[in-house]
Amino acid sequence: ALVRRYKFVLGNSAHTRLCTNKTMLTINGQFPGPTIYARKGDLVIVDLYNRASHNITIHWHGVKMPRYPWSDGPEYVTQCPVSPGTKFSQRIVLSDEEGTLWWHAHSEWSRASVYGALIILPLKNETYPFPKPHAEVPLLLGEWWNADVQEVMEEFLASGGDPNISDAFLINGQPGDLYSCSNSTQDAFKLSVEFGKTYLIRMVNAVMNNIMFFRIANHSITVVGTDAAYTKPLTSDYITISPGQTIDFLLTADQPPSHYYMASRVYASAGFFDNTTTTGMLVYAGNYTAPPSPALPTLPQFNDTTSSVNFTNRLRSLANTKYPIDVPLNITETLYFTLSINLRPCPNDTVCDGPRQERFLASVNNVTMVLPKTAILQAYYSGMGAGVYETDFPDNPPFRFNYTQQFVPIDLWRPENGTAVNVLKYNSNVELVFQGTNTVGGIDHPMHLHGYSFYVVGSGLGNFNRRRDPLNYNLVDPPLMETIAVPVNGWTAIRFKANNPGVWFMHCHFERHVSWGMGMVFIVKNGKRPEERLLPPPSDLPRC
Ligand code: C2O
Ligand code: CU
Repeated sequence: ALVRRYKFVLGNSAHTRLCTNKTMLTINGQFPGPTIYARKGDLVIVDLYNRASHNITIHWHGVKMPRYPWSDGPEYVTQCPVSPGTKFSQRIVLSDEEGTLWWHAHSEWSRASVYGALIILPLKNETYPFPKPHAEVPLLLGEWWNADVQEVMEEFLASGGDPNISDAFLINGQPGDLYSCSNSTQDAFKLSVEFGKTYLIRMVNAVMNNIMFFRIANHSITVVGTDAAYTKPLTSDYITISPGQTIDFLLTADQPPSHYYMASRVYASAGFFDNTTTTGMLVYAGNYTAPPSPALPTLPQFNDTTSSVNFTNRLRSLANTKYPIDVPLNITETLYFTLSINLRPCPNDTVCDGPRQERFLASVNNVTMVLPKTAILQAYYSGMGAGVYETDFPDNPPFRFNYTQQFVPIDLWRPENGTAVNVLKYNSNVELVFQGTNTVGGIDHPMHLHGYSFYVVGSGLGNFNRRRDPLNYNLVDPPLMETIAVPVNGWTAIRFKANNPGVWFMHCHFERHVSWGMGMVFIVKNGKRPEERLLPPPSDLPRC
């Protein structure tokens, strides 16, 4: 394994999209940010310099960081922010991840423009579990706001309602040519291909608040990995990808040489949505007359839950002798977490957008997470947790009723604020069922766990049934992921072995939901042996 070193300088840089010039936070002036390349098991060191006027932290999304949460990144969970004018050297400890991950800012909403791909290649003498592609291309789905994102966020938090939606979705930083004030020559990402060749596309959904559909006109694709773990090849016309998730797929240029659109659009089971289509172009090499308007792929409708769920439910681990799976079987810790959007009456003196002068909040097991003023990890490590967090995060929801019925009495679901952690014994075998609720209205929640990957052993619509549903779990080849969309008014069951000691954030990867409090923290205790214990903090760890 090698040590690879990168320099990341956070600054303000000028960018133009949709005829709007703006200055925004970026790393090294790039949007999207630089791609990090490494091989399995390497140590990547990123020297992060903050030369902007906003606090920053950076999270290496999907990297387990064994025993070393100190560089994991979520603000006030594992570290205090890197303040303007300061520097922090982050150690990204790769272990068994192989495939595509990404990095993003984890401080307020700054990830809107501060993100990039993290590509982990196999060991030097190893190959992919699929034929060697002719070339590899990262495709990052993102967003563009004409306004300043910090202002968008502040307005959103103050109003208690839904945030302003972005002005465009992007593929590799480009909106495509279907938005007003954009044109195909400059504004669409172009992927040049040669007829007959196969390409490995490494797709990341870096969008703030939306699950996306993606499809390429006339071509089908074959999924080979998700969240830096290989899957059984899965051929499909389209994919569904949640914020936080990554999907690796093979694309063979097997159609008549021409230009074809690739396109992405929102899947929104509820709430606000944007039905615009973002385009990129697949451009074959060779001599031909390109059609004046290439074929657009037909994407599923924005409210097509069946198409969204069907794609995700078809994912399977590779699960062979070379890539075995290790699903925990003897469960020692059973957790049942409800995910809710809530309402709370506004105090008289605040402007409040929500219905009936109430503001939106979100919660897990009826606890709305409030970030502390100092980092939970530091407080825990130094034995000073009192006053920073409580250890009473509930294993089960406080109320029992039909969570997904059409009208859940709103008064039942006034959440409590809290900074509560759930403590797990080292090596416990955890089963966690996420239950979507229809409190204010049901919606999908892409849930992400830091420090771990988990097996998605089951999922369904409606209420989870403790007796019946486990009988249908897939314990043979469930997909290994670190972000999974819990379907609207449905449930998802995951399993993992708590063998990575530390403090680990778990939250919805919709920025507006995590800002409303849809998150919680696990503390995984140390094991007995020295190699089962948290490593000490680095000397340059930022202070609050
Ligand atoms: Cu990709 Cu806590 O985030
Ligand atoms: Cu959510």
